[in-house]
Amino acid sequence: MDVEVVGRVLSTLPEDDDHPYRTGPWRPQTTEWRADDLEVIGEIPPDLDGVYLRNTENPVHPALERYHPFDGDGMVHVVGFRDGRAFYRNRFVRTDGFLAEGEAGKALWAGIAERPARSIREDGWGARGRMKDASSTDVVVHAGVALTSFYQCGDLYRLDPLTLETLGKADWGGAFPYACGVSAHTKVDEHTGELLFFNYGTAEPYMHFGVVDSGNRLSRYVEVPLPGPRLPHDMAFTENYAILNDCPLFWEPELMAKGLYAARFHPELPTRLGVVPRRGDGEVRWFEAAPTYVLHWVNAYEEGDEIVLDGFFQGDPDPKDTGDGGYYQRMFRFLALDRMQTRLHRWRLNLVTGQCKEERITDSITEFGVMNNAYGGRRHRYAYAASGVEGWFLFDGLVRHDMLTGAEERFSLPAGVYGSEPAMAPRVGSAAEDDGYLVTLTTDMNEDRSECLIFDASRVADGPVARIRLPERISSGTHATWAAGDSIPGWREAESPESALGL
Ligand SMILES: [Fe+2]
Repeated sequence: MDVEVVGRVLSTLPEDDDHPYRTGPWRPQTTEWRADDLEVIGEIPPDLDGVYLRNTENPVHPALERYHPFDGDGMVHVVGFRDGRAFYRNRFVRTDGFLAEGEAGKALWAGIAERPARSIREDGWGARGRMKDASSTDVVVHAGVALTSFYQCGDLYRLDPLTLETLGKADWGGAFPYACGVSAHTKVDEHTGELLFFNYGTAEPYMHFGVVDSGNRLSRYVEVPLPGPRLPHDMAFTENYAILNDCPLFWEPELMAKGLYAARFHPELPTRLGVVPRRGDGEVRWFEAAPTYVLHWVNAYEEGDEIVLDGFFQGDPDPKDTGDGGYYQRMFRFLALDRMQTRLHRWRLNLVTGQCKEERITDSITEFGVMNNAYGGRRHRYAYAASGVEGWFLFDGLVRHDMLTGAEERFSLPAGVYGSEPAMAPRVGSAAEDDGYLVTLTTDMNEDRSECLIFDASRVADGPVARIRLPERISSGTHATWAAGDSIPGWREAESPESALGL
């Protein structure tokens, strides 16, 4: 293994930190690495070609009052594969907020569990306002560039998908909607090369939908009026429509008037699913479904008169404090999949009748579901999701859901080893939906190390076909993506991954 430390960031977190989302498997990193020719246990498939990118909340400074695991600064990890070899890099996303706090040596903005008025800086980002845009939630690759995003809306930071150097912010020729920003969970339609996005906020019309074409031009930006401020987290799309949502879990209006932001579930209200045309002049159409909150969708597609939408229904979007567990476990019960009762669910929106039918797909509790992105907006069969550790925001295994037969294949990580959201990497020349690999990163508390695991996507239960050692134990993290080598400029022309990196 050829390893080099390329950066260190000064952390002001206390030595005796006891916050469970800043210690143990969530211990943040301060070191940035370049590692080539990584040690491999097993064999990296030669037809695995491209990069797995994972974003992570990786805090550097103590919170002003109360740290929430969604507040940490963005750090992206990349594991690249070519010709049976692998390289790794990790870098902080150099956001404006990260740089300002680095200069100040302390937190300047209040996090999501703190009052905005507590922020030291008057300015800021986020639907709520006066937050730091940490760009730590999600990552996609569009037009050959990695884009990191923030769940509360902010800028899209542009990163080189190989070196992870921050290249600046998406501007789209000055058309970027700076006033509202862009939410996490932008979507790339691999068939059109378009980037689909939404944003939300506390001012009318409360939500927008937009499209950026393959040449980075904003080609559509439309209002999606809502009854009030809402907290959508994800979107889905079909060939002709985007699907946005108005779930009945939102900030209490009376508290908002006092500058406090507390979300409450309203089981007396329906979930509303908004179907927005991707092209032309059509209006938004709303469909009503059973009340829930959906953090993540898997995919959507058109079938006859219907739009089929798969996602994770929460049986209990507002879990009560039962008094079980410690202080932090109770405070962050909203992050535990078993407490939210997240189950794969299918909604069918009939465009002729305006009716929505829905059904639970499985009793298994999973979330953070991904699929083969070549099937994005098209009929899919498989979803690959994470299973969670009881009571905590940690993943302990992978589940492959077969939406056609209902079959589930499961791989459980050893106790003390935690995974990330997987990404599905189609094999070079793949012909079938599950003809490829699942890639994820682990945080192994038993061996104090991290590995990148590669599974055969059609045989998840068999366990990894290869394990790749990373230079140090990395923090647990969630959202990830896959970018095929041929979608990355310079990848093919280079003689090796290292020379593609310009080394
Ligand atoms: Fe998310």
